[in-house]
Amino acid sequence: MTHATAPSPDAPLEASATIDGAEWWRSAVIYQIYPRSFADANGDGMGDLAGITSRLDALKQLGIDAIWLSPFFASPQKDAGYDVSDYCAVDPLFGTLEDFDTMTDAAHARGIRVIVDLVPNHSSDQHEWFQEALAAAPGSPERARYIFRDGRGEHGEEAPNNWDSVFGGPAWTRTANADGSPDQWYLHLFDSSQPDFDWSNADVRRMFRDVLRFWLDRGVDGFRVDVAHGLVKADGLPDFTPPVGAGSMGGQAADEEPVTAPYWGQEGVHEIYREWNQVLAEYDGQRVLCAEAWVDPLEKMALWVRSDEMQQAFNFPYLETPWNGPALRTIIDESLAAFSSVGAPSTWVLSNHDVVRHASRLALTAENPQGHGIGPETGDRPDRELGLRRARAASALMLALPGGAYIYQGEELGLPEAIDLPDEARQDPTWFRTSGERYGRDGCRVPIPWEADAPAYGFSETGASWLPQPEDWGPYARASQSGDADSTLELYSRALWLRSTHQLGLGAIEWHDAGDDSILWFSNGPITVVANTGVTDAVVPTPLRDATRILASSPHDEGTLPADTTAWFLTP
Ligand code: GLC
Repeated sequence: MTHATAPSPDAPLEASATIDGAEWWRSAVIYQIYPRSFADANGDGMGDLAGITSRLDALKQLGIDAIWLSPFFASPQKDAGYDVSDYCAVDPLFGTLEDFDTMTDAAHARGIRVIVDLVPNHSSDQHEWFQEALAAAPGSPERARYIFRDGRGEHGEEAPNNWDSVFGGPAWTRTANADGSPDQWYLHLFDSSQPDFDWSNADVRRMFRDVLRFWLDRGVDGFRVDVAHGLVKADGLPDFTPPVGAGSMGGQAADEEPVTAPYWGQEGVHEIYREWNQVLAEYDGQRVLCAEAWVDPLEKMALWVRSDEMQQAFNFPYLETPWNGPALRTIIDESLAAFSSVGAPSTWVLSNHDVVRHASRLALTAENPQGHGIGPETGDRPDRELGLRRARAASALMLALPGGAYIYQGEELGLPEAIDLPDEARQDPTWFRTSGERYGRDGCRVPIPWEADAPAYGFSETGASWLPQPEDWGPYARASQSGDADSTLELYSRALWLRSTHQLGLGAIEWHDAGDDSILWFSNGPITVVANTGVTDAVVPTPLRDATRILASSPHDEGTLPADTTAWFLTP
């Protein structure tokens, strides 16, 4: 189904615009652009800022409110740009600051806000401060900006503590003096090329306030804050062994007692965000901070979005909830309760550049911890048809919920994970740090298809692509789906249009009982949503029999709600 009248404004954005008096971010749909893989204007196989500018109309048509760009800053690209060597420079791979300004202006002119990624937990080892620290002596002010420690053992030959890196292997690397003799160790919660800053250091705090102002001065509407639960480490850096089953970023299984690791979710981070809140307040309009904080339980995560801290936090517990009626109902209720207890909107997210795409993930049958990924040798190969069917149903459910929603580029095309990437193409540090034991995240980062028959599916004119694209992606291309009422693209754009028209993002939900807990049934204003998470077809609840079905994630007969299907009804 197509529609000619998308509701979002054609006029340039008013900096302080509100919808019915509510700040824009309370109900926004934010589209994550992974710049490496969105659109490549110069044909080198790496997406770039000019490519984004050239494709903004497609996002306008989709009906999103804002874009968030993963890092495009100067970086040796050891962790795809999450290893920043200069926070105020654009990496030549992606273009120039002028290209950034052009893109921002073009987005704003289309009524689309712009959020950039801030990576404050660590820099690249090529950052000038880290290079200065290496050249300086133990105990120097240069070393005090990072976390250098003497090793344990008689000759300092053992790491200062037992912490592991999120990407596998130890979280410490020993440095060497100019003459080759061993020196101190430095902490890196991620790759060894990503040394952690010491956030008790005044230089570090000052630099990041300046970085915020640098991008705010250029007109950005906000920041997604990378590893926003990791900046502060517990005093004394005590040994810690995470509980079995804990995610490497700190998330835990729902049935486990939450444990606070000495490097995740420390109380001291909040003071930093209160300071940043004040920096944003120096600027006109409604600027936002959005936390990537893998903290459990949700009541704790809500501390990140108290009114004097950040505006949003990614709801990872929701992302990690299986396609299961009771589990979804519980997490939706808990999310709304936790975030509203501090006056913040809930957010919803199903995919991003760190997790298996939900069109594949929802058809996995075994545990797949965040960051491990799937590849050719993974025994549990997801059924593509089932995965897509569930993904469409899950997205249609998510987009009916009140609060903010995040969409990861390509999910609106129903893209599956690229499972069969050749080993030699893989780039995620996880793959290297675990000697191939974990595939990592490359499978969700493959450049997206625009046109079925163009080189690199229209990603780049030359056909170059930094990760190889699967040969069977033609039908997923945006142009192949556009105008086809049954396509995933049109499902998303219709859902977004209805969501905006009926202001579902600012709404509230009321549950109804279908007498079968695999059926989720709720209303949000004039829209009633029914999702069948079960394995058998169900009938549409009697009160909805005469209501108009205005959206459905799968084909259906009148009166039927097939398995793995979400439908929306207009119930005035
Ligand atoms: C965040 C990013 C991830 C990156 C890591 C280290 O989790 O989303 O891609 O590898 O931080 O910066």
